[in-house]
Amino acid sequence: MMKKILVASALTMLGATAMAANCSVSVDSTDSMQFNTQEITISKSCSEFSLTLHNVGGMPKEVMGHNLVITKEEDMSDVESEGISAGVENNYIAPGDSRVIAATRLLGGGESQTIMIPTSKLEVGGDYRFLCTFPGHSSIMNGVVNVTN
Ligand code: CO
Repeated sequence: MMKKILVASALTMLGATAMAANCSVSVDSTDSMQFNTQEITISKSCSEFSLTLHNVGGMPKEVMGHNLVITKEEDMSDVESEGISAGVENNYIAPGDSRVIAATRLLGGGESQTIMIPTSKLEVGGDYRFLCTFPGHSSIMNGVVNVTN
């Protein structure tokens, strides 16, 4: 009897693990101008998705700052160029830019920020990217955002 109950609860736990989407991700950014991943997967089964960006480097944000900005692929270059024009005081993000789906602020070495992304803003199968809009960084510091059910 006891054995049956244990087997049943172990199977239930396995099932729960398989079903539950991971609703958070942690990304590192470095003094060598890189993210430690080129792909982020966000499940729509999460009502909100938690993203933490760490700048694991040691330089000030004016020198080697990093942000993480999510946009549609088609908006990426305009969001970047207008962000650069907006300057470091605006985290290299144009104030009120509606093409920015989610963004951290510009982080200097040793800083971290967690943002909550409402998944209602994302469509399954859409072409989304993430990038750092610090001048000159995006050609290396970019990646794909996959949105799944
Ligand atoms: Co950067």
